[in-house]
Amino acid sequence: MRKPGSIAPPKGKLGVLTPGIGAVSTTLMAGVELVRRGESIPVGSLTQMGTIRLGKRTEARVPKIKEFVRLAELNDLVFGGWDVYTDDAFQAATNAGVLDAKDLARAEKFLKTIKPMKAAFDQNYVKNLHGTNIKQAKTKFDLAEEIREDIRDFKKKNKLERMVMLWCGSTEVFLKPEDVHQDLKSFERAMKSNHRAIAPSMLYAYAAISEGIPYANGAPNLSVDFPALVEYAKAKQVPIAGKDFKTGQTLMKTILSPGFKARMLGLNGWFSTNILGNRDGEVLEDPGSFKTKEESKLGALEYILQPKVYPELYGNFYHKVRINYYPPRGDNKEGWDNIDIFGWLGYPMQIKVDFLCRDSILAAPIALDLVLFLDLARRAGMRGIQEWLSFYFKSPMCAPELYPEHDLFIQLMKLKNTLRWMMGEELITHLGAEYYD
Ligand SMILES: NC(=O)c1ccc[n+]([C@@H]2O[C@H](COP(=O)([O-])OP(=O)(O)OC[C@H]3O[C@@H](n4cnc5c(N)ncnc54)[C@H](O)[C@@H]3O)[C@@H](O)[C@H]2O)c1
Repeated sequence: MRKPGSIAPPKGKLGVLTPGIGAVSTTLMAGVELVRRGESIPVGSLTQMGTIRLGKRTEARVPKIKEFVRLAELNDLVFGGWDVYTDDAFQAATNAGVLDAKDLARAEKFLKTIKPMKAAFDQNYVKNLHGTNIKQAKTKFDLAEEIREDIRDFKKKNKLERMVMLWCGSTEVFLKPEDVHQDLKSFERAMKSNHRAIAPSMLYAYAAISEGIPYANGAPNLSVDFPALVEYAKAKQVPIAGKDFKTGQTLMKTILSPGFKARMLGLNGWFSTNILGNRDGEVLEDPGSFKTKEESKLGALEYILQPKVYPELYGNFYHKVRINYYPPRGDNKEGWDNIDIFGWLGYPMQIKVDFLCRDSILAAPIALDLVLFLDLARRAGMRGIQEWLSFYFKSPMCAPELYPEHDLFIQLMKLKNTLRWMMGEELITHLGAEYYD
């Protein structure tokens, strides 16, 4: 990728558009509002709380990331979005049940101002939703045109300088890239003929890129992860990223498994099961949507443990992921992991992880960081796949000739080195030999 020259300053308002006004997006919106009013703290957000070491360890230069690279201020964020339901963001947040009544009440006035635009939706791609707030255009291409119009209207109405779009919609059914996804002409032709391989999330991605807006995909469905839109993003100078926010169980997997590999401990099996009771869980009850999620969750271990490179340690492990919809749990998911490892002379050991996590509490800071970093990338003239944002994703997008990097610690190093590179600072290799000369 071309090294960025000067980075345009983050002047004016930044629009944050989310297809999907559900658990993640409303938790993001409410959280940003409480933080910018000084009533809460942005825990989990690298852009807000993280620091970055610069230069030698002896220099003691460790600024906050948001002071090192100029990011948009939280006060400058303006939220909007689309949903198949007519609920405003307050009602949607209440339904999602992530935040308690006290926090909801404090954000109520603000959330009530965010009303969903009509969605480009098709039940063939998400079975368990029954909303009515849906666009009626005849072709998929016309739907994309309507989304583009929404974007322009929103920009004008809110006097925005720049915008970012983040897919926070439901997980669509499993689709593989086909011929129609290979180049822009075929893709546009397929939109016009309502081809079944074009899912609604692709229309939002296409519309965002057409309007010159960075796009990230928080769900595991294809959306922007195929050659036609990757090339289109490059041509339009638009940064893109995906897929699937790395929260709960996969976050744990990508923290633990690099540790096992670092110490050359073997793995016989990893059984992961989840119960959750939010709308996401309901959508994932459908086998088509579950398949998309399953593929996304299964990839991490394979790539981190490299069974081909370490056949005696990882050549034969059994990996299973289950997700069950269990309404009483709401958004407070429970993820159990049973991990069968082995050590010296092949002696077996077990690790059990029981993570009582709050999915959207983990996802909201990720969503915020993605918005701010994608806006930074756009101002820095970066385009196409932003692999340095892999840190945030379960199925990181990368160039076709590469394998995705899943190890959280390598991902973090890559992210911070990218920031140093953007700002013309020395990259940090952790060699440190110079301290002992
Ligand atoms: N909650 C998490 O921590 C987490 C983690 C990783 C990934 N994700 C993914 O992020 C996405 C959002 O998660 P959530 O928990 O907020 O789900 P949610 O069900 O609460 O919200 C999703 C919203 O998207 C809407 N929607 C579906 N299709 C749409 C379309 N075509 N246009 C506009 N709106 C549409 C739904 O009506 C719903 O309100 C899901 O795909 C989920 O798998 C969530």
